[in-house]
Amino acid sequence: MSPAHSTETAGLNAAKAYFGRRYMLSASHRLHADSLSDEENRIAYGKCNNPHGHGHNYTIEVLTRGPIDPATGMVVNLVDLDREVKARVIHRFDHTNLNSDPLFANRVPTTENLCRTVYDLLADALPAIELEYVRVEETENNFFQYSGN
Ligand code: NI
Repeated sequence: MSPAHSTETAGLNAAKAYFGRRYMLSASHRLHADSLSDEENRIAYGKCNNPHGHGHNYTIEVLTRGPIDPATGMVVNLVDLDREVKARVIHRFDHTNLNSDPLFANRVPTTENLCRTVYDLLADALPAIELEYVRVEETENNFFQYSGN
């Protein structure tokens, strides 16, 4: 192997590539912080504080990063990613009221917090996979993104 070739190979192995995948999640929530008074809640969350809650069709985007595996040519096997996202996130939250999940017992289920919760669930489930970020689109105009610590 020529020196030029080995340098190129080392560079390629160190380089990061990205793989992202999107998932759909429908859930309802009510934004209400126990630490705030009823009036403060109404001011902070407006109609999202309505006691009956409301629903969203969230789009959850998971972006992973890593070197391209020289054997498989892939950053992450999408079958592995799908299995964990479906088991840990979609099956847990789809068509549920987020407020009733223990993970939101002490955490207001804003989309910021949903984003962080999904990131943490996946980071725990997939220690071998580097998560660049989890992004959650709540509406056509709103999205949130979380990258861990
Ligand atoms: Ni909402």
